[in-house]
Amino acid sequence: MFVRRWMAGCSAVFVGALLGSTPWEVRAATQQIDWAALNPAFEAATFVNDARVCGACHEDALRAFGDTPHARAFRVGKMPAQGECESCHGPRSKHVENPGRELAWAKLSAAQQSTVCMQCHEGGARMGWKGGAHLSSGVSCSSCHSVMAERSERVLLVRPRVEETCYTCHGEARAQMSKSSHHPVREGRMDCASCHNAHGSTPSLMRTATVNETCVSCHAEKRGPFLWEHAPVRESCANCHEPHGSSNRNLLTRKDPFLCLQCHSYGGHVNLPRYNRVSSPYGSGCVNCHVTTHGSNHPSGAKQTR
Ligand code: HEC
Ligand code: HEC
Ligand code: HEC
Ligand code: HEC
Ligand code: HEC
Ligand code: HEC
Ligand code: HEC
Ligand code: HEC
Ligand code: HEC
Ligand code: HEC
Repeated sequence: MFVRRWMAGCSAVFVGALLGSTPWEVRAATQQIDWAALNPAFEAATFVNDARVCGACHEDALRAFGDTPHARAFRVGKMPAQGECESCHGPRSKHVENPGRELAWAKLSAAQQSTVCMQCHEGGARMGWKGGAHLSSGVSCSSCHSVMAERSERVLLVRPRVEETCYTCHGEARAQMSKSSHHPVREGRMDCASCHNAHGSTPSLMRTATVNETCVSCHAEKRGPFLWEHAPVRESCANCHEPHGSSNRNLLTRKDPFLCLQCHSYGGHVNLPRYNRVSSPYGSGCVNCHVTTHGSNHPSGAKQTR
């Protein structure tokens, strides 16, 4: 008798809102910010509205900023009239008269800092930001983005590349990516944003609603539906694969055949003595025969052997 066990630990039904697929767009700063509510030190201040005034004392900042996409957007009139510097730094008339650090960015909470950026960047990929894992852990836009100077290949990140930016906090992912089997992030063929939306609110911050949808967006041949489905595959690719990296071949969570033996028991397999050589825990693996473990469309593929 061949017994199967369905491991409770594998179950993870993912639900989540579909992210909008519209390309990103920047809105005019239609959302008005109540600056005094963010920091009472803004009370009664007005917009100076002239970067040259700021530049008189902040020459270096003005120069570094001048090379960024924000500065370019101001130059071509894509930014609102509130002022080149003050759209993020708030009304500064009092600061010009009496400079100090009481209006410092660091005095705002992560949510308040986000509000400043979201004046122009709400929606698109950031639709789920407010309910997402990053904001609720105190990570703000400026934890990943450096807006005062261009330091990255693209999208104003704090480090030259996406993965380096993420590794500043996620050292474990770096360790996983350095295992023998890994997604080609090190090789520069993809990055963390190929699978994750850092601004999102889906489980594990996936780009799409579920892990599987993200995986099959590249591995289309695993999408199905198949005539003969394999239940754990439908549920989540992560049941058998470490998405970042693994010391086992093909990103597998366990060495085969132990992978399969988590849920299936070997004793009692048809023709056990004959199959022993290839599929025992010391053999090379069940998928030698069960070649369609992701699902089969063959009329007699019920046992995943074709
Ligand atoms: C898109 C938003 C944004 C705009 C526009 C902007 N800044 Fe900033 N600025 C920030 C943020 C966020 C920080 C704090 C984090 C950092 O240093 O990256 C900051 C920091 C600063 C600092 C403090 C740096 C320090 O080390 O303490 C100065 C000074 C400054 N900005 C001046 C300016 C001036 C002058 C302009 C206009 C030429 C300007 N900023 C435009 C977002 C902005
Ligand atoms: C008269 C000189 C002067 C002018 C003009 C001036 N600042 Fe400052 N600013 C300072 C000084 C001094 C500090 C404190 C620096 C420090 O402690 O490191 C400062 C700090 C800052 C900081 C970092 C701390 C904070 O409050 O967030 C920002 C950002 C900043 N200024 C933005 C501006 C902007 C934007 C303008 C133009 C509207 C401006 N400043 C005009 C002198 C000036
Ligand atoms: C007043 C409106 C406004 C505010 C406030 C604002 N941005 Fe932007 N942002 C823009 C515009 C406009 C662009 C350029 C769009 C373009 O080039 O088409 C842009 C571009 C960007 C980009 C993409 C750069 C690239 O290389 O493609 C990033 C990242 C970004 N902003 C982050 C931020 C962050 C973080 C904040 C808050 C600290 C912020 N922005 C605040 C209007 C704004
Ligand atoms: C955890 C890191 C992280 C945080 C926090 C973060 N971003 Fe990003 N952001 C990224 C990465 C990575 C990309 C590049 C995404 C890609 O390649 O698809 C990006 C891209 C962008 C872009 C350009 C592309 C687009 O999606 O429109 C903008 C604008 C932007 N971020 C704004 C923001 C704003 C505003 C916040 C805060 C509300 C924020 N980001 C918070 C990492 C982050
Ligand atoms: C400033 C630190 C910081 C940076 C930079 C950062 N993260 Fe995070 N991230 C966190 C924290 C804190 C959490 C929540 C606690 C945790 O799960 O570790 C988190 C959680 C996550 C999660 C798990 C969410 C969940 O539902 O469990 C993912 C996925 C993630 N981050 C991806 C990224 C990616 C991709 C980048 C780079 C674009 C990035 N992070 C950059 C701090 C950061
Ligand atoms: C091939 C797609 C893919 C890539 C590329 C990827 N991730 Fe993930 N990541 C996932 C999936 C799927 C999960 C959820 C795993 C699960 O459900 O067990 C995850 C989970 C995470 C988590 C949550 C903690 C954990 O390990 O479960 C963090 C943090 C994270 N990823 C960071 C990163 C960083 C940083 C990078 C870039 C170096 C990155 N990821 C690249 C697919 C990916
Ligand atoms: C952005 C596209 C993309 C996404 C999304 C993606 N992959 Fe991959 N995957 C790749 C690339 C590229 C390779 C390397 C193929 C090569 O080297 O020829 C790969 C390789 C693999 C391999 C073989 C690894 C090896 O050691 O040979 C497995 C298994 C795999 N992916 C599973 C997944 C799973 C599970 C997910 C979802 C968590 C996923 N992939 C999401 C692009 C992607
Ligand atoms: C029941 C465990 C299991 C699940 C769940 C699973 N896989 Fe696999 N996967 C395997 C095994 C075992 C291999 C190695 C196959 C071989 O050697 O013939 C593999 C190999 C792969 C490969 C590399 C070789 C190839 O066939 O291209 C990719 C890509 C892959 N899986 C993607 C996925 C995706 C995407 C999902 C989710 C839709 C998924 N896997 C779910 C067990 C699984
Ligand atoms: C996470 C648990 C899990 C893992 C890991 C797993 N399976 Fe399964 N497998 C199942 C479940 C659940 C079914 C469906 C059982 C049913 O329909 O009664 C199934 C069905 C099968 C069937 C069809 C059985 C039948 O009677 O129709 C075969 C063959 C099979 N698995 C082989 C494998 C192989 C080979 C591996 C390793 C690559 C593997 N399984 C890994 C849970 C798992
Ligand atoms: C030498 C080839 C071979 C190897 C190796 C092998 N199997 Fe099978 N397996 C088969 C064949 C053939 C069947 C029966 C197909 C049929 O009844 O049509 C089968 C049937 C099954 C079934 C369905 C049992 C049932 O009662 O219907 C499961 C589950 C299964 N194998 C799991 C595994 C696991 C787990 C391993 C690795 C430990 C493994 N097999 C190794 C060839 C193999």
